[in-house]
Amino acid sequence: MARLAYIFVALLSLVYVSSAYKILFVSPLKGKSHAILAEGILKPLLKDGHEITYVCGLPPDKPLPKVTLVETTYKYQSTDKDSSFSLSEQMSKKMSIKDLTKMFGLLSNITNSVMRETSVQALINDPKQHFDVVIAEWLYTDIYASFAAIFDCPLIWLSSCEPHWKILRNVDEATNPAYTTDLFSNNIPPFSFTQRLTELGFQIMGHFIDYMYFADTEKEIYDQVVAPAIRKRGRPVPNLEDVKYNASLVLGNSHISLGMPNRLPDSYKHVGGYHIDKEVKPLPENLKKIIEGSPNGFIYFSMGSNLKSKTLPDVIKQDLVKMFGKLKQTVIWKFEEDLPNRPANLHIVQWAPQQSILAHEKCLLFITHGGLLSTTESIHFGVPIVGIPVFADQFINVARAVKKGFARRVDLSYSMVGKLHEEINVVLSDPSYRQKAKELSFIYHDRPVTPSAELVHWINHVVKTKGARHLRSPALDVAWYQKTYLDLALVLLAIVLAIVYGIKFLIISLFKSTKKPQSSKKRN
Ligand SMILES: *[C@@H]1O[C@H](CO)[C@@H](O)[C@H](O)[C@H]1NC(C)=O
Repeated sequence: MARLAYIFVALLSLVYVSSAYKILFVSPLKGKSHAILAEGILKPLLKDGHEITYVCGLPPDKPLPKVTLVETTYKYQSTDKDSSFSLSEQMSKKMSIKDLTKMFGLLSNITNSVMRETSVQALINDPKQHFDVVIAEWLYTDIYASFAAIFDCPLIWLSSCEPHWKILRNVDEATNPAYTTDLFSNNIPPFSFTQRLTELGFQIMGHFIDYMYFADTEKEIYDQVVAPAIRKRGRPVPNLEDVKYNASLVLGNSHISLGMPNRLPDSYKHVGGYHIDKEVKPLPENLKKIIEGSPNGFIYFSMGSNLKSKTLPDVIKQDLVKMFGKLKQTVIWKFEEDLPNRPANLHIVQWAPQQSILAHEKCLLFITHGGLLSTTESIHFGVPIVGIPVFADQFINVARAVKKGFARRVDLSYSMVGKLHEEINVVLSDPSYRQKAKELSFIYHDRPVTPSAELVHWINHVVKTKGARHLRSPALDVAWYQKTYLDLALVLLAIVLAIVYGIKFLIISLFKSTKKPQSSKKRN
């Protein structure tokens, strides 16, 4: 009997453990780092037994079982050359606010194309489709929230960077610019007076950008694409505003070891580093030989996947080759073309397994553009960096790393090679940089569970609790004039005015009543 009960319990727990959900995952940007973050989510969810429909930008290299791909065919509107940011353009100072606005225009176009894509239309207009939860990457627009409204299920945002006011506004409220940094700024609190003004300016500009680039597109998409799909399912169409601010959770590719302390709502969960596998893959033979044959350790140099080293001006390429030749360490440079006159200690590889390289104990330094995946991996493996930021959040990532004490920064310019040489020497000769990287690495790893286990846990939690309404910030339901007590100020103002006018009226009428007999006397 006891054995029967045991089997029964075991069977029950099996049923419980293997409760598989249908998940819709939306990550439509055609960028390598976005694809890496996306696969980092898919893999542990598949292992946990779920079934996933994936609206993707770049499809995975190898097809994944139990993943239904909804491919997007949109093209970036600009030419191929423009879609990866050119270093030489950067250095001739052509990239600026204008480029940021170009980026927002591009993102807005992409959003529009994705939502009108035939494959996406087929998905949302199929009344038999049903999902338990939608996970959508937040891409400067909130429109992907409408997938949750269509399928009438909870929504989880995936945020690819450190927490910032725009994403927090979706689940709580915009953070105070007096002590939090905008995504495109590189100020580190505590701020000076002018920095505080700059941050406020960034927030005001952010609202303006929403209005200029996204508000109309979102409204149009919602009315033309989303609302009909909801009606088809026989449900009333909710307000777009209510849909935008209805997420159950934000999963942030962030962690305190990588970012700055922040006030966060209960619905924000740090899962930074989830894309990194627990087991490091072995190095390919050619790299293994180079690395193990480096008597003084090695430096790894990579400017990421968006930014092609090919676009580097020739002068800088030659200067770099010369400068690396002067170092006694081996240098591994991820670069798309071979260079002539390479010194013996410089090795150029077209493809590099970054994690396996950084994991090697002989890796002394990482020269990087400062993309969040790269800074995360440098902390994961405890390697100090020299950052050469080029675009978007790379500036703030490098600024944070410098502030934390495991990095030096070099700005892009035609004369940067001399400065780069200096900074390489600083990091290699002063052990504090490496020590700091190791300390942060300890903080990074010292979590109760791995970030990918945490990610799976919270996604399951949202589904099991039908949207985790208990995590919802009360700030979402309070209007701005109530938060700022403007209504109280108005009431107080009314009271003060009433008192002032009351007294005035009293005095005047008293004055009149004492004056009247006199004047009547005079007249008589
Ligand atoms: C908000 O989310 C909850 C839980 O996921 C859902 O029940 C509700 O219908 C959603 N409301 C809107 C306006 O989308």
